[in-house]
Order: sequence, then C-alpha cells, then structure tokens
Amino acid sequence: MPIPEVEKIWMNGELVDWRDAQVHLLTHALHYGTGVFEGVRAYDTKKGTHVFRLKDHMRRLHRSGRLYFMDLPYTVDELVQATKDLIKANGLESCYIRPIAYRGYGEMGLFPLEATVDVAIAAWPWGTYLGDDGIRHGIRAKISSYQRIGPNMLPMAGKATGQYINSVLAKVEAVKGGYEEAILLDHNGKLSEGTGENLFVVKDGVINTPPMACDVLEGITRDCVFSIARDEGIPMQEKIMVRSELYGADEVFLTGTAAEIVPIREVDDRLLGEPGPITRKIQDIFYSIIKAENDRYEHYLDWVE
Ligand SMILES: Cc1ncc(COP(=O)(O)O)c(C=O)c1O
Repeated sequence: MPIPEVEKIWMNGELVDWRDAQVHLLTHALHYGTGVFEGVRAYDTKKGTHVFRLKDHMRRLHRSGRLYFMDLPYTVDELVQATKDLIKANGLESCYIRPIAYRGYGEMGLFPLEATVDVAIAAWPWGTYLGDDGIRHGIRAKISSYQRIGPNMLPMAGKATGQYINSVLAKVEAVKGGYEEAILLDHNGKLSEGTGENLFVVKDGVINTPPMACDVLEGITRDCVFSIARDEGIPMQEKIMVRSELYGADEVFLTGTAAEIVPIREVDDRLLGEPGPITRKIQDIFYSIIKAENDRYEHYLDWVE
C-alpha cells in the first residue's frame, strides 16, 4: 500500500522533513532485523483527535526493546508527547502511527549491544488495512503453510522487525492464492494468529482466543475484546484450538490496530457466512469507543490537544 507523504517525521528527538528521514545503508537493523516497532492509530472524532491506547503501545515498545537488550533512550511519556507533537506538526486528524526503535549505524556483526539505538515515529493517513468491505462483510482467509515462530526461536511477545518476514511469507502466499489473510498455526500445529492480527473463534455463545503459549502477540485490540466481552456478559476464554475448530465455528474474527475488527466469512474454502451477532456486537462497541461515543472506555483515549 503506498504511503501518502506528509511534512514531518520525528527522529531521535527532532522533527525532520519527511524526505530527510533517512538511514545509512549499513544500519544494523537493515541487515539483521534488530528493530522493534509499534502500530498505533489516531482517530478524528466530534470531540477532537485522540490516539487510541497510546501509552499502552509505547509501554509495549519498551517491553519489545527489553526482549532484545535494547534500552530505549526515551521514556514512555516522552514518546507519548513526541507522538502528539508529530500529529500536530503535520496537521493530521485520523492517521496511522509507526514508532520504531532500531540498532543504527556504526557497528556490524551479530553482537549488537555496542550499536546505537535510534528511535523514530512516523504518521500518515491510512485506511483500514483489510478494507471497509472486509469490516462489513468479512474476508476470506487461508491457513498458511508457514508456521508461527516458536517461543524458543524468537520471543513472540515482542514486535521485532526481523520476526515479520515470517508474516510476510504467509501473507504473500495467501494473497497469491486469492485470499485476503493468512492464519498461522503455532509450533505445535495449533491455531495461532493472523499475519498482523489476533484470532477469535466463537462457538455456542463463547468467544475463544489462543493463549500466549500459542505464539501470539498480546494484542492491545485483543485486550479490548476481553474488556468488551466482560462488560457485555459474553463468556470469553483463552483456548488451545485445532484448525477444524475454525471450520465448525459459528463466527470467526481477527483484531489488530491496523485491521481493527474484521470478520472472516470463509476459511480454507469453508463458508462461515456474513458476520454473526457476537462479532457485530464487539464491532459496534469497539467502533463506538474509537469514535469517542462511549464514556465507559474514555480512559483508552489519549487526546492530542
Ligand atoms: C503478529 C500480530 N498479532 C497481533 C497483532 C494485533 O495487535 P494490536 O491489537 O496490539 O495491534 C499485531 C499487530 O500489532 C501483530 O503484528
């Protein structure tokens, strides 16, 4: 998806012109995937622009860094403020925000701890990742022939740039096969997650989602689904599941910051149909929250002004 250019990018504490936000060819992270990143969204509402769960995203960025011995030279609060400054400097309303911390220029080789840690934040207007039609009517998904990376290969609780080539291969395979998204199995062959989304399987009125032990990212949208389900009295649990539980599900949906809440209408060529009532309910409440029309979850919204 092409990135629409805006004016400024925040790099190591300064707002630089979009075209000047460059790195050297010998940047460590470009060679070895030694970066950690976040995907965050800001939403324009009747009450102004807010960034959704901004502090939680910056906390996870710090946690991801720690997993790779990368201490970020900016605190969570400084990164929160930098994000708001960036949105204001660019005059953005609804946008996608990409904070990244990475091993920079000056060292090469596989021992990265002497290399610098650079931090940048970019933001640009970006529609929903799997399309508005996908949100309304559901997408077609396929179980990938690629497995999710196991816990003794990489710490999947973190969002490291290098681990995403696993997602890239799965995504390309799915799209080339005529599907919109891939679902990966974990290192034990159990259901894990999408290439950039958590997975939910509704059966007999219960929402099930794979636990951390199935190599999933502890998604912030996933956490919202837990809260919404609890507040609405919908039973929800973490459950280890096999692929056939998808085929026999009443409803299946994916969640993520980029994708938001996306129903799956067909999986591995088995028809599940239009989004069901529980998916619709979770969607309705989630969209009322991000539109700032739901006071109960006001604490999720970090206002830019
Ligand atoms: C692999 C993976 N799983 C799940 C998610 C969903 O996480 P979140 O809801 O925090 O965006 C993402 C997106 O960051 C992801 O990349």
